[in-house]
Amino acid sequence: MLQDLTDTPLPDLTDLTGHHAVVTGGARGIGRAVAARLAEAGAAVAIADIDAERAHAAAAALRGQGREATAHALDVTSAEQVAELAGLLHRRRGRLDVWVNNAAVFAVSTSTLATTVREWREVLSVNLDGTFHGTAAAARLMREQGGGCIVNIVSTAALRGGAQAAYAAAKSGVVGLTRAFAEELAASGVRVLAVAPGATVTEGAIEAARRHGVADGSSAAGGGVAGRYGRPDDIARVVYAAATGMCGWVTGSVITADGGEWTC
Ligand SMILES: NC(=O)c1ccc[n+]([C@@H]2O[C@H](COP(=O)([O-])OP(=O)(O)OC[C@H]3O[C@@H](n4cnc5c(N)ncnc54)[C@H](O)[C@@H]3O)[C@@H](O)[C@H]2O)c1
Repeated sequence: MLQDLTDTPLPDLTDLTGHHAVVTGGARGIGRAVAARLAEAGAAVAIADIDAERAHAAAAALRGQGREATAHALDVTSAEQVAELAGLLHRRRGRLDVWVNNAAVFAVSTSTLATTVREWREVLSVNLDGTFHGTAAAARLMREQGGGCIVNIVSTAALRGGAQAAYAAAKSGVVGLTRAFAEELAASGVRVLAVAPGATVTEGAIEAARRHGVADGSSAAGGGVAGRYGRPDDIARVVYAAATGMCGWVTGSVITADGGEWTC
């Protein structure tokens, strides 16, 4: 069952010392910021990314700040690779407390009608299949240890119109799988939830905007009611909170973090 944290003091709820966390796609952008916040809170963080070189650089930067971090080459589209890495990391520390499914790709076409079958499959394969592989692998290990938290990074694109079909379908699918896993795992003390960022300035988002010939968000202005676009750490702090005892009674939920862009 989910832990009753009623009498736990606030500092103990937010401290991740001794926790073991994995962030997929943690080499840059939102994932890198998430890894940094989890490590700052005391967790030993494994950064798993298809871009091994950048993953190593991100982990080295954290170690340079006195944090505990390792880097791992991982393609989340491979169920075997994901299960193997989850098993290896679990054996190494004897536990796995937090798994953040953050790795994703942005769609190439802006127009839904222009989406090719190849693009559809590629986006679904990374964003939906990859999240399923991570959630399933982490859930099995966490169920055995009787607790843990899985955070899936979705998007406001899963909640509103105006998004390209492949990306929106993948992220909507992740919302569905998040609820299904959450329902099945709550009795085992494992929480599964989603965080939905709005437009956030990252390298991936800037590359996608440039491909699409739209404002790339790298300027300070714009971004809806908040008067600016989100920054990776705006999302990372929410993921961190979701992963701590502060959200110990939150599971199956989608937490929107968009500065009011979609929610207002
Ligand atoms: N930036 C935004 O505006 C925005 C908005 C809503 C949701 N999101 C979501 O936030 C998450 C992070 O986005 P970002 O903007 O930081 O993206 P990004 O492109 O800057 O970073 C994504 C990371 O995922 C890695 N990756 C890609 N394919 C992979 C694979 N097959 N296996 C392992 N790693 C892989 C990349 O190498 C990269 O390091 C994604 O899930 C994205 O859909 C972003």
